Amino acid sequence: MSFSLQTILLFLSLACTTFSVHSMTMDSSEKETLFRVMETLSSDRNWKASHPEPCNPGSSWPGIECKPAGRDNHLHVTRLDFGNPPNPTCKKDATFPPEILTLPFLQSLFIFNCFKTTKTTLSIPSKAHKLALQQLTLKSNPALVGVITPLISSLTSLQVLTLSQNHLFGKIPEGISSLTSLIHLDLSYNSLSGSIPSQLGSLRTLTGLDLSYNSLSGPIPASLGHLSLLQKLDLSSNSLTGRIPDSFESLSFLSFLALSNNKLSGQFPRGLPKLRNLQYFIMDDNPMFTSLPFQLGRLAKLQELRLANSGYSGPIPWSFSWLTNLTTLSLANNKLSGPIPAGLSELSRIYHLNLSRNSLGGVVPFNGTFLRRLGRNLDLSGNPGLCLTGSQVTETAMLGVGICGGANKSVSTMQQPFGRSNGASLHCSLPNLLLFTPICFWSLYQLLL
Ligand SMILES: *[C@@H]1O[C@H](CO)[C@@H](O)[C@H](O)[C@H]1NC(C)=O
Ligand SMILES: *[C@@H]1O[C@H](CO)[C@@H](O)[C@H](O)[C@H]1NC(C)=O
Ligand SMILES: *[C@@H]1O[C@H](CO)[C@@H](O)[C@H](O)[C@H]1NC(C)=O
Ligand SMILES: *[C@@H]1O[C@H](CO)[C@@H](O)[C@H](O)[C@H]1NC(C)=O
Repeated sequence: MSFSLQTILLFLSLACTTFSVHSMTMDSSEKETLFRVMETLSSDRNWKASHPEPCNPGSSWPGIECKPAGRDNHLHVTRLDFGNPPNPTCKKDATFPPEILTLPFLQSLFIFNCFKTTKTTLSIPSKAHKLALQQLTLKSNPALVGVITPLISSLTSLQVLTLSQNHLFGKIPEGISSLTSLIHLDLSYNSLSGSIPSQLGSLRTLTGLDLSYNSLSGPIPASLGHLSLLQKLDLSSNSLTGRIPDSFESLSFLSFLALSNNKLSGQFPRGLPKLRNLQYFIMDDNPMFTSLPFQLGRLAKLQELRLANSGYSGPIPWSFSWLTNLTTLSLANNKLSGPIPAGLSELSRIYHLNLSRNSLGGVVPFNGTFLRRLGRNLDLSGNPGLCLTGSQVTETAMLGVGICGGANKSVSTMQQPFGRSNGASLHCSLPNLLLFTPICFWSLYQLLL
């Protein structure tokens, strides 16, 4: 009995809701604005005729969301999404319609792949409704050019600002720092130049900051260490100089840090182990010219560690064998010397290990199980001092590493190790002693272990 009463009540309330939404109309000036915006953007010329009531359930279209916002009895546009089907696609000469920002209840605006031929800029009209917009994404628009207008700072409710893959240039406006509700800021893949404004450090609620693939120069501001909620930081492919700031040790939620392809150099921050949530540390191609800190081994959650092509010298710290969640380790093309730490063979999740083009020496410490598991994802080539034992050779077709003792030349395509051997190779014949003292030393070291 009570069940059917509930059902009836539910039915009635649903019917009422539907009825009231149907009876709601758009504010006429808001509707006119929307029609003008569609004229500037949409490839569908008959749009106005086919959508006379754009917000009504029967007539609404993918890409628009309307809600009974406000206190009036109207439906208001709260979300617009253009560019990628099923959303409306853009006409060939579409340009950015500043009026779109005067839609009083617009919370989210997405424009992908839209401005392709006619150059246009992101302009923010003075009568923009500044308090509603929470999410602005203009992405992959090759004809969106110009500097990022300082007026962007008037959109003070923004939580997500994505302006990636356009042709924006000039400096990052310092005023962006007044967008204190920002959670995600992505300006990647543009031609932005100048330095990273230290004011960005006041965006205390940021969890994601991506400035990669621009032409930013100068040092990484220490103030970024104040972004204590940051989970993802990508500054790769710029021309940043100097050290990783010591203040980064405060980024205890950081799980993704990419700094590849810059001009960073010098020591890592001493407080590095405090980045205890770091899972991805991607930092290839920097002129670091230092040694690898033992402390890197304390980043227990690391899954990917990429430090190739950066002039690192000295040994691979044996602490790396603590990185039990590591799946990818690339230290290729540095000047690392000494043996491969035997503990690396215990990294049970690793499937990509690239130690190629260094000066590592001694017997490769991996057994058949390990060699078979990694297969071609193990690259040890270009280390003249490394060698494999006979039993390892039967497990793998690894190119570029010789056989200890050099008795079996069938798999070796590059440098042969020298001297005689019974597995743990002793490369210490007289000529080798003179020419390859470090190799000889490490071979002895391996024998003594
Ligand atoms: C390693 O990964 C597993 C599974 O993703 C996770 O449960 C574990 O906590 C991780 N270990 C560390 C030290 O973070
Ligand atoms: C290979 O090495 C791993 C790690 O050291 C070890 O757990 C495994 O038992 C070894 N396998 C064989 C067949 O010796
Ligand atoms: C290892 O790194 C070198 C240098 O960066 C690269 O050329 C090579 O393809 C990599 N090997 C594998 C197996 O990924
Ligand atoms: C050389 O190694 C191959 C396997 O890679 C093996 O079949 C062959 O018997 C070995 N030859 C000698 C002389 O050890």
